[in-house]
Amino acid sequence: MTNIHQFDFSGLRALVRVDFNVPFDDQGQITDDTRMRAALPTLRKILSDGGSVIIATHLGRPKGRDPKLSTALIVPHLKELTHVPVIHCPVSRGAQAKEMAQALQPGEILVLENVRFEEEEQGKLNNPDQYTNEEDLKAAKADLKERQKAYAKEMATLADVYVNDAFGAAHRAHATTALIAQYFAADKKMFGMLMLQEVEAVQRVLHGAKHPFTAILGGSKVSSKIDIILNLMDKVDNLIIGGGMAYTFVKAQGGEIGRSLCEEDKIDVARDIMERAKAKGVRLLLPADTVATCDFANNAPAETYPTNQIPADRMGMDIGAQACADYREVILTSKTILWNGPAGVFEFDNFARGSEAIAQAVAEATRQGAYSLVGGGDSVACINKLGLGDEVSYVSTGGGALLEAIEGKALPGIVAIDPNYGK
Ligand code: 3PG
Repeated sequence: MTNIHQFDFSGLRALVRVDFNVPFDDQGQITDDTRMRAALPTLRKILSDGGSVIIATHLGRPKGRDPKLSTALIVPHLKELTHVPVIHCPVSRGAQAKEMAQALQPGEILVLENVRFEEEEQGKLNNPDQYTNEEDLKAAKADLKERQKAYAKEMATLADVYVNDAFGAAHRAHATTALIAQYFAADKKMFGMLMLQEVEAVQRVLHGAKHPFTAILGGSKVSSKIDIILNLMDKVDNLIIGGGMAYTFVKAQGGEIGRSLCEEDKIDVARDIMERAKAKGVRLLLPADTVATCDFANNAPAETYPTNQIPADRMGMDIGAQACADYREVILTSKTILWNGPAGVFEFDNFARGSEAIAQAVAEATRQGAYSLVGGGDSVACINKLGLGDEVSYVSTGGGALLEAIEGKALPGIVAIDPNYGK
């Protein structure tokens, strides 16, 4: 496989698929540029070799053209970050894109328009409702599949080489994340540096973990974590459960959880997971205590209860002090740690303490020599809020992509370049 570190980009145009799907505030200012910064090593390597960069990215989930999701909005900040000329191309295909790509000089960056403005990118019809019968809908979908290939092929003609650095979008089998790779020769397509780091981090926890290995999983839904739990069951020593999903487990044990979140249809699944853990010798930890309120609000009066004795009118908002202490103890004895998902309603400051305690413990374990991988919006936000970004081993830029990678799935954006990935 072609390695970006050894590749000489001098005189070449590189089409770099990044994930610059960054959040904006009401004034149109980027509120978190982590994903942009994470792609800088790849961009700098290409530019300093004497190559030029053509950036392809999606932004949000538009249905057709939407000025609020134009990549023009990220150009000023990319200029500040790179200190090189950054030109915006108002389209991502056609004669204008071709001309602008050809006019690009070494050391310059061209940012193509949001690739999701074209329905070919995702291969998903923008307006399926316009088809009144099944036959027409089927024909339209088949036609779109062909147009999707054509879009990928056309975009490939803009550049000499293809670099995929979009880990955050690697779970999408889209035109510019996956299909496009087939239009470049094996020595003309490669992973970017961010992608390499992300893949290495995932491989390290899934296949090279030192023991004890502890996975801390939080968030509201058991359903979104089932596949991860099952894939981790043969690998971890400890499985710490936090967040809203803990209550489904507690209910499965016969506990009283009041009005706490519960996926009734997943109670059997939770029970099955606990039985499997027991059979495999995995220690599954549920929060001993819970901070609960009557209202779902930051300032709602809160009290702490044993998690299996939450009063009928109350709902769990965060793990309690005893759970924080129990989890900390386990985390500090671990050599490998994976954390995905908050321990409580992290967006409310008053119920962020459990997540913060986990973040502190993960950082402390890392200082003592453990390897830690943190991913998922709220866990990463928590680490960043506490200024602990440099105190954990790796902070992933992937949301859904990281989850699918940990589930053990072959990500389309990765196998398109390396068909042997994960084998
Ligand atoms: C993300 O934000 O997780 C990635 O950019 C993928 O976005 P998507 O879920 O809209 O495909």
